[in-house]
Formats: sequence, structure tokens, C-alpha cells
Amino acid sequence: MCGIVGYTGSKQAAPILLEGLARLEYRGYDSAGIAINDGDKINVVKAMGRLAVLCEKSNGGAAAPGCIGIGHTRWATHGKPSDANSHPHVSENGRIAIVHNGIIENYASLKEMLVNRGRVFKSETDTEVAAQLIDYYYNGNILEAVSRAVRELEGSYALGVVCADEPNTIVGVKSHAPLIVAYSDDGNFFASDVMAVISHTKTVTYLEDDEIAVVRNDGIKFYTPFLDEIKKEKCIVDWDISAADKCGYEHYMYKEIMEQPDAVRRTIEPYISDGRVDLSAVLDRDYVKKLNRIFIAACGSSYHVGVIAKYNIEKLARVPVEVVLASEFRYCDPIVDQNTLVICISQSGETADTLEAQREAKRLGAATLAIVNVEGSSIAKSADKVIYTKAGPEIAVATTKAYSTQLAVTVLIALYTAECCEAIPDSEYDKILSELLSVPEKMLKILDDKANIQYLAYQHFNNEDLFFIGRNIDYALSLEGSLKLKEISYIHSEAYAAGELKHGTISLVVDDTLVIAVASYGRLVEKTLSNALEVKARGAHVMGITTESLKQKVGAVTDEIITIPDTHEVLLPSLAVLPLQLFAYYVALYRGCDIDKPRNLAKSVTVE
Ligand code: M6R
Repeated sequence: MCGIVGYTGSKQAAPILLEGLARLEYRGYDSAGIAINDGDKINVVKAMGRLAVLCEKSNGGAAAPGCIGIGHTRWATHGKPSDANSHPHVSENGRIAIVHNGIIENYASLKEMLVNRGRVFKSETDTEVAAQLIDYYYNGNILEAVSRAVRELEGSYALGVVCADEPNTIVGVKSHAPLIVAYSDDGNFFASDVMAVISHTKTVTYLEDDEIAVVRNDGIKFYTPFLDEIKKEKCIVDWDISAADKCGYEHYMYKEIMEQPDAVRRTIEPYISDGRVDLSAVLDRDYVKKLNRIFIAACGSSYHVGVIAKYNIEKLARVPVEVVLASEFRYCDPIVDQNTLVICISQSGETADTLEAQREAKRLGAATLAIVNVEGSSIAKSADKVIYTKAGPEIAVATTKAYSTQLAVTVLIALYTAECCEAIPDSEYDKILSELLSVPEKMLKILDDKANIQYLAYQHFNNEDLFFIGRNIDYALSLEGSLKLKEISYIHSEAYAAGELKHGTISLVVDDTLVIAVASYGRLVEKTLSNALEVKARGAHVMGITTESLKQKVGAVTDEIITIPDTHEVLLPSLAVLPLQLFAYYVALYRGCDIDKPRNLAKSVTVE
């Protein structure tokens, strides 16, 4: 939700900010803007629409001279996308300019106070209130003004602030929204995440809530809310620019689909040695033995990973698992005690709903484990223990490689828990682990055979309504297949437990309705095929997704078929998700959709 970046140094700021914004655009793309201090005054250029509009308006930054500035790319919350509502926002007198990621919840009462003191506002945003408030407290020292103003802000914010009277200084401050600062030989930065600065430097510092950073050419200083100076560590980021680039691919989503075999291998390897899964660093064996329940809280695709994990953990370890949408967890009065483990799954590590669920779990006394892709993110930092997925930066809004790595981690958890609870025979354990290790290779095979999936996408890209059906893990996977398709191709689709369709929804099936039957789970394939026949009898066109060994059986019922290699049932979704991702990708491609940046969405959802 919104990306912010700032730079001060020896180079012209605007082109550097535009490049940073291009790397942050996945966080929101309703509008973009920059504010540059030219040494005398602050000049703002901003424009509704994609960053390209701003680039054109500012002539690639050339039209905005000055070596210090801030930039913003927006996912609209308060006020529709428009030039006026775009950031940066400026105080009425033009002295203060700010960029903001988050939501200032008490903006209305602050605005009323400022209006009563004669301040005039130009936008509908909560951010303009913060700009005016900082200016209201400005008394010749921007650091003091920011520290004073933020004490009155409620909600979430990462702010970057420049002041016309202090042309060498940017102030950054955060509360419940991510903010880093970064160091290079040519100048220093602040940003929502590392992505924005990775082409300049890998040396960064992560800010904690309520800390304030003063970024200048010659260094960065840190302060507590009451302006005591503090020292903070520098970290070196362990990935490079190629991880954040398209590397010749047309879309990030496609690149990220292709990266899945490596991402899964990188993620699982550190936890497997001598033919055993060892998670003892994050989950104490004695604690696991005493577990009475596991909750999994997550959103969107990460939630779908949780649904599959429930089936697998319960099947292998016989520990009850409840999967709850993170946005509901706080309000469902969860029954939690010290023998309950709450697992929060998040690619970004910044999803506000998931972060709040984790906080609630801790408040209720549960142990928390986070499965997170972004190091140093809020969810990672606030969890008791973390398992990092090693997917690398995921830039396409539609998740693919993060989903696959999360799923692989949940299989590790299922195996480890099953072993700790003595619920799994050795032979079964060995079989699953060896199949898990061969997932990357089998994924490669599916990716190599993608021509059939592309062909089927071409046959069906004009459909406006379709259904995914499946049972058990095939149903759980259908949820993801449906979301992926909706999200990037704007086709309406629903995922149904195959047996449930006949209880109402089958009335929507008419001649040529496309139904995708995920039928990989051998134990229930006959049942799913019966449901496929029911929809066929009502005119549906059925596409099956199944394994090599079930191909004949499934193909005898379906009109067309996609196959995946055979594997242990626990791992079927890890393979079957690939055709679903590719199908969604190609359908969106043929429909001419903006695949990496679907409408109305943002990659990191930092509002509740
Ligand atoms: O960063 P998170 O994993 O917490 O994000 C959760 C969802 O917003 C995310 O999975 C979303 O559903 C994806 N865009 C789907 O592709």
C-alpha cells in the first residue's frame, strides 16, 4: 500500500526517485509524485495514473533540479485517485512536503483543529493533515516539528518529510508501516523497502516503530520519539539487483513462476539434514508434543496455503488445525492457550490483518510462528519464531513463488510435527521427504511442458464465468486457482468443494460453462469425477487437472486434460498449482490485461 522513497546526495534527486518509485510501484499505482528541494524552495510534480505519466510530466526528472527529494506511489485510501490527492502533500505555505504510507485514523479531528486555526486544505487525504500539522509545530527545527506532530497521530504511518528552510535534511519516521534507510557513497536514502534502493546500495538499517531518522548527505542519525539519539545496526541485504529485475521476461509474474523450482529448493534445504526435517531451532520438540491445537491465520493466497496445510498436518500429525482469515481472527474469540501454536503466513510480512492477528495471538498467550518472505518485516519481527521462505523478491502482485515456498514450509512443519508426536511410520516419513526433495525437479518438468496449458488458455480466454471444483486438497488448491484467475484476468470464477456444487450453485451451470476439475487426489478422484459428470450433464465443458497415473481415468470423463507428475498425495498441490498459475497467466495475456499490476490491487496490504 503506497511506496515512499527519499534521497539526498551529490546527484540530481528526481531521476533517482523515479527509478526507486518504479521498483516500488507494485505497492500501489493509482498516482505518483515527487517533491524536490532546489535549495530555495520545494517544487512538487505529481500526476494521477501510472508512474509513466509522472516520468513524462517531469521529463524523466530533468525538469526538477535539486539533489534532495522525496517520492511516492499511491494506493488510494482517503480520496479517489486524482492529481490533488496524489502525494507529496505540502503545507499551505509550501514550507513542508511529506510522503506517507499508511492511514492516519484521527485525521478528521486533527483537520478540524487545523481548520479552526485558519488552515486551508486542498485534498481529501489524511496525509495533507500530517503535512499541515508538522508545519503548525514548525519552529525553525524540522526534527522537533516532526517529533511533536507524530505524537498526535493515531493509526499507521511511514512518513518522509522535507522542509524548504532546511535544504540538507530529510526526516523519516514510522509506526506500524515499514521504513528503511540506506547508505551509499553518492548519498543516503529512506524507503518503504529495500527494492527502491537496491541498484545503489545493499547497506540498510531497518527502523522500529516510533524511531525517527534524520537523513543527510553525510550520514544518518536516529532518535527516540523524545529526541534522544540512538545507535542502530547496519545490515547487508543478501540479494542483488537481478532478483528485482525482469531479466528479459515480459512479466514479473512469468519470471516468478519460472523461479519456483529454485525457490522451493532454497527454502527447504536449510531444514533438512541426514534424511530428517529439523525445525528444532524454531519449534521445540517437547513443546510440539504438548500442542493441543494449531491456528493458521493469513490472507488471500497465504490463507489458501493454510487451507492445504490443515489437511496435511491433520492427516500426518493428528493435531487439530484451524485456518482463519487473519482479518477475522481478532473477532472470532479464538480459544487459545499456551499449548496453542498460531502460525501466521505472509509473503510481505506487512499485511496489516495478519500482523494484527499475530498480535492478538500473543496477547492471548499463544506461541507464534511466522512464515514470511521479507526479512526484517513487521510480522517477522514481532513473531516469537520465524521461518523465512527463500523466494527472493516477489514483485508481481499475483503471488506464485511465495505461495509455493510457503506450501513447502508447511509440509516441513507437517512432517516435523508428525515425527515429534510419533504419529507417522518411518517408511511414510521417508517417502514424503524424498518426494519433497524431488518437487523442484518435477516442477521443472511441468514448466517445460507448458505449451498444452498455453493452448488451453487460448481456447478459453473469452469465458466470463467459470468454476473450479475439487475435493480435499484439490478443493484447497482450487481456491488458489480461482483467485489467481480472477485477480489478473478479471474473469469471474468460483472454487467449490466438488460435492457442494449440487447444493445450489449448479443452477449457474449452462451450456459451455467451463468447469476446471482438479482431480489429482487419488483417494477421491472417483467422487470428483461423478461431480464432473453432473456438470457435463448440464452442458458444462470440463477441463481436468490430474496426475500421469490417473490420466486415463480422468481423461475418460473430461473434455480436455492437463497432467502433472505423480507424487505423494501431500505434495500434489505443490505441483498442481503450476498449471493453474500458468493458465491464469496465459488467459490474462490473451485478454491483454496488465498482468503484474492488476486493477485496484497492491502487493502489500498495510491497511485493515
Ligand atoms: O503478503 P501476504 O502474503 O500477507 O499477502 C496476502 C494477500 O494479500 C496475497 O496473498 C494476495 O491474495 C495475493 N495478491 C494473491 O495473489
